[in-house]
Amino acid sequence: MSARPSASRRTVLRGAAAAPVAGLGPGLAACSPGAGGSPSSGPTGPVDLGAASEVPKGGARLYREQKVVVSRARDGSYGAFSSVCTHAGCPIDRLEGTELVCPCHGSRFDATTGEVRQEPATVPLAKLSVTERDGRLVAGPEA
Ligand code: FES
Repeated sequence: MSARPSASRRTVLRGAAAAPVAGLGPGLAACSPGAGGSPSSGPTGPVDLGAASEVPKGGARLYREQKVVVSRARDGSYGAFSSVCTHAGCPIDRLEGTELVCPCHGSRFDATTGEVRQEPATVPLAKLSVTERDGRLVAGPEA
């Protein structure tokens, strides 16, 4: 007679995803290279980014909280990348046109391709999937 609540797995997983990462406070703590494991590479599941119209054609938009950058080509197609720097894992907080600038050591990335434009980073940003649904953008890890 085990009446298991059916809630659970999903609820538990969602709870875990929302929990803060222990030991990684804001700021430079996340910038230490070799801190064990690979640095977070942005969203681990689908995230709603809001209205698709906020990304200009031929431009890009940085979603700091979600750690995602979305670019939109002139033909209207979207591209998305994690905005976690591949050098040492800092969250990138600046977008100049379509160029991302890492606050930690100055690496620069092309927000439309994810490619490195300026070292010390040498690895491109992690590509994400992005879809538009009912006028809203949803980004997440590539399948
Ligand atoms: S973490 Fe070093 S340049 Fe971004």
